Amino acid sequence: MKAMLVLCMLAALALTEASVARAPATRSNLSLGYIQYGDRLLARQYLAKGALPNAIQYQDLIYRGNATTRISAIQAMEVGYTQWASAWVVAGGIGWNSATVRVQSARGYGYNYQIDIWGR
Ligand SMILES: *[C@@H]1O[C@H](CO)[C@@H](O)[C@H](O)[C@H]1NC(C)=O
Ligand SMILES: *[C@@H]1O[C@H](CO)[C@@H](O)[C@H](O)[C@H]1NC(C)=O
Repeated sequence: MKAMLVLCMLAALALTEASVARAPATRSNLSLGYIQYGDRLLARQYLAKGALPNAIQYQDLIYRGNATTRISAIQAMEVGYTQWASAWVVAGGIGWNSATVRVQSARGYGYNYQIDIWGR
């Protein structure tokens, strides 16, 4: 009976593990593309979350430009002391008119990011 219970808990654990997206890189700061002459800051957003015990938290920033928008650079910088979080692009990006940037915390930590999207 007790062994049964442990098995069930393991299964539940594996499920939550699988449902959390894996960061492809463990870099805390993201810098893609180059800011070129004539580019403007299209969007600046701050994403922050406090620490939650034993939890991995994430959030997506979705930027959508118009038909003529071209994104030339995406930067995500950890603000303040490092919390070992990660940021990466899940959709769109450089050369597109839209981008989705995901920020994900380390387990048991929070994050505080400044995300800049440059382009024209
Ligand atoms: C489209 O977006 C760009 C910024 O990417 C802006 O400069 C331009 O004015 C916009 N055009 C229209 C028609 O809204
Ligand atoms: C990330 O960027 C911030 C702000 O520029 C800087 O203070 C920090 O040292 C950088 N972290 C890493 C791991 O490069």
